[in-house]
Amino acid sequence: MKHVAVLGSTGSIGISCLDVLAAHADKLTLAAVSAHRKWESLVDQVGRYSPRWAVLSDPSGREHVERMTSATGTTEWRYGADALVEIARHPDVDVVVTGIVGFAGLHSTWGAVESGKQVALANKETLVVAGPLIMELARSSGAVILPVDSEHNAIFQCLRSGERKEVRRIILTASGGPFRGWSREQFDEITPERALAHPTWDMGPKITIDSATMMNKALEIIEAKWLFDLAPEQIEVVVHPQSIVHSMVEFVDGSVVAQLSPPDMRLPIQYALTYPERCEGVSPRLSWSETWELNFQPPNRELFPALDLGYEVARRGGTCGAVLNAANEVAVERFLRRELKFNEIPQACRAVLNAHEFDPSPTLDRLCRLDEWARKEMIQWN
Ligand SMILES: NC(=O)c1ccc[n+]([C@@H]2O[C@H](COP(=O)([O-])OP(=O)(O)OC[C@H]3O[C@@H](n4cnc5c(N)ncnc54)[C@H](OP(=O)(O)O)[C@@H]3O)[C@@H](O)[C@H]2O)c1
Repeated sequence: MKHVAVLGSTGSIGISCLDVLAAHADKLTLAAVSAHRKWESLVDQVGRYSPRWAVLSDPSGREHVERMTSATGTTEWRYGADALVEIARHPDVDVVVTGIVGFAGLHSTWGAVESGKQVALANKETLVVAGPLIMELARSSGAVILPVDSEHNAIFQCLRSGERKEVRRIILTASGGPFRGWSREQFDEITPERALAHPTWDMGPKITIDSATMMNKALEIIEAKWLFDLAPEQIEVVVHPQSIVHSMVEFVDGSVVAQLSPPDMRLPIQYALTYPERCEGVSPRLSWSETWELNFQPPNRELFPALDLGYEVARRGGTCGAVLNAANEVAVERFLRRELKFNEIPQACRAVLNAHEFDPSPTLDRLCRLDEWARKEMIQWN
């Protein structure tokens, strides 16, 4: 029996994860859940699943929780961001699912990796900010990092078809988001509502906007570089609107191995939780009794300049990931508040990246300080 802590359990990844756990109660048990502000959803999850711990990382909801849970339940409630790290490191937790969005997920992911856990990594921002430090930490602690991101999970599965030295390149697929095929003029009119309507995936707001700008793919290029130890030139991006092929690996002999399944995050989550075993899944299956098409096309790098940022940051490494990530997080918030236009998100990120003082081998502390700096820069950008 594996004891699983689901950090960010009230989010899109977290809810899918609880579904997977419920379907595999014979081998996976829920040890902990967490939310930041949605204390009502967390109380509901505690009522349904009775985990050992529940963490509300924004303690301002504590009074409400205590009023609702005073007389019932065996779950131990903890409050504040430090509690996330304590749970991630707890000796009775075997697997940590990092479903927290953004830089806020870094410290608990770090804690899980440092204490040698099996880490089902959804929080790609951790690798974008501190990829080399995290991978080195995993090597020394023995932590196993299993990607939950559907593209990286697909690559991870495809890599099992050959030796590491036989890999020529990987091909990350991208749905292209809601604005695939739009003209430059139309880009000026993009509203938050329109950008939040993703054609194939149902996800949290931050990653949905990142998908629309293709910054999500940029972050995934950086994530793939650190996770699979690849040169940026070995990472290709192709637009595949159906989101059926989740990514591919090309081997030196020219064979391309792909992983296909309907777009449903429960499959990669399950794979990361039960690895190295494969078991019956809760996600839907592809139907081969009807006619369907798979399309692929190169991305439009002029209309989606975020991709160039991703390659540049993957190439330069050092402090660039932390700066790009923080700048993008704040730019997305500003776009959602209608303070920035859609087109300005990559433009502003480029400006903040260019303005920062580059350090090729920063410490975690330096990265955290740069995160703060880049946020302040982006708040002021106009
Ligand atoms: N959604 C997907 O299909 C998908 C696919 C691949 C990768 N990912 C990655 O998975 C991560 C989660 O994405 P998501 O779409 O599930 O996000 P989401 O739906 O917005 O959920 C985010 C979770 O993090 C919690 N949270 C937010 N801010 C926090 C903070 N400051 N401190 C602690 N917890 C905080 C939220 O709590 P509240 O509910 O209380 O706000 C919620 O539980 C992201 O890194 C994303 O890139 C997601």
